[in-house]
Amino acid sequence: MSLDSAQLNEGRAFDPYGAHRDDPYSFLAGLGEAEPVFYAPLLNAWCVTRREDMVAVLRDDRNFSARDHNPRSSVELPEDVSRMLRTWRGAGALAVGSLDPPEHTRIRDVLNVGFTPARVRAFEPTIREIAAGLAERVAASAEFDFITAFAVPYALEVICRRLGIPAEYLDRLRTWSEQRIELMMLQSSTDPDRLREFARGLMDFGAFARSLAHERLASPQDDLISELLHDGKAGRTLTVDEVAVQIPTLIFAGHMTCAEALGTIFFQQLGSPGGWAEVVDGRITPRDLVEEGLRFDSPLAGMYRTALHDVEVGGVQLAAGSRLLLLYGAVGRDSRVRACPAGFSPGSESSSHLAFGQGIHFCLGAVFARTELEVAIEVLAARMPDLALVPGPPPRHRPVFPLRALSALPVRQSASAEFR
Ligand code: HEM
Repeated sequence: MSLDSAQLNEGRAFDPYGAHRDDPYSFLAGLGEAEPVFYAPLLNAWCVTRREDMVAVLRDDRNFSARDHNPRSSVELPEDVSRMLRTWRGAGALAVGSLDPPEHTRIRDVLNVGFTPARVRAFEPTIREIAAGLAERVAASAEFDFITAFAVPYALEVICRRLGIPAEYLDRLRTWSEQRIELMMLQSSTDPDRLREFARGLMDFGAFARSLAHERLASPQDDLISELLHDGKAGRTLTVDEVAVQIPTLIFAGHMTCAEALGTIFFQQLGSPGGWAEVVDGRITPRDLVEEGLRFDSPLAGMYRTALHDVEVGGVQLAAGSRLLLLYGAVGRDSRVRACPAGFSPGSESSSHLAFGQGIHFCLGAVFARTELEVAIEVLAARMPDLALVPGPPPRHRPVFPLRALSALPVRQSASAEFR
């Protein structure tokens, strides 16, 4: 098959912002083996659903680039908003996720040192302290929204503490991250003044990151940003511009995904009869629960790549310049691998997944994220053994694909727990 402009208008009506927002996987399962690579006009991308095809793309940096890997808004943005979106990070340096070799290799080698298993282990007591503090705070309410009261603030505070960002900035960082999501994934028109406000928020985010990097260059502290700049434990350094551009990425990539994973895990496990009791009494381990959550609904369900040359993927001939969406989340739902991929059952079968990607862009924070998620489960199981979902309709996913974020998850403690 070869791609021409007529075929661009064909393809499959995959709509993860609308009809398939809560469950993109049934649609993908419907196409199954017959069409493992299909064109989705709404995303203007070729969707790749089989592990072997994704891995082939991820291993081939001669034919595929990560330069344009983020989702795009399908709404035409006002010119000043587009300009701010192009420039908010500052001129020059690119975030690690958009780099191709050899630049990617140089930057990633320095970043890696901050997230090795040994460094994550050394930081674990801090993660535990943050989880315990937040659990204590939410435990004061009989009912709360798990996403906004625990998952998001927890994940944000953890990555900010690792970077060395003072707590007074947490609220602003939360707002800026939200504004970034809205602008990147916007699929329907909205008030131009609202877009301008979001874009100005991003400009502030970029300015904040640059000023923080300059501050740490001038007066280093015992934190990751200083280490990246000062030849500390890393043994190599980045320039102040290179560090400034990584800061928003580390904050964003480091907290949205973990918060989403917690949302999925708690929704599924609390929703299964007796499920939370099995976690509390240790029949289900935090590790199994985390892996099953990552498999069942991978928090970053996909990422884009661009074909640099005419190339074949999964038997489909693509023209140079084609955009591909590697649907990492589909790997966990592969019926060739798992008898019942749509069921959530931690520990019962292998939770094989591709939730952290693969190849040179494999998630920088995979060990960190797994630790962070396991600690949250352990701490909450100990502090809130009676946690339960508030009865009601199932929570909706936000229209922010390929992020898989629940909009809210109302939970409660049983009456006896309230008065502990
Ligand atoms: C459950 C949580 C997480 C999930 C599911 C996740 C998922 C992913 C995936 C799928 C990729 C590959 C993207 C691609 O192929 O283009 C990635 C890359 C990345 N992740 Fe994560 N991530 C998580 C947590 C974190 C954390 C905690 C950090 C903080 C350090 C982080 C930082 C990054 C960075 C910087 C990259 C880009 C790496 C590169 O391009 O070399 N992630 N992540």
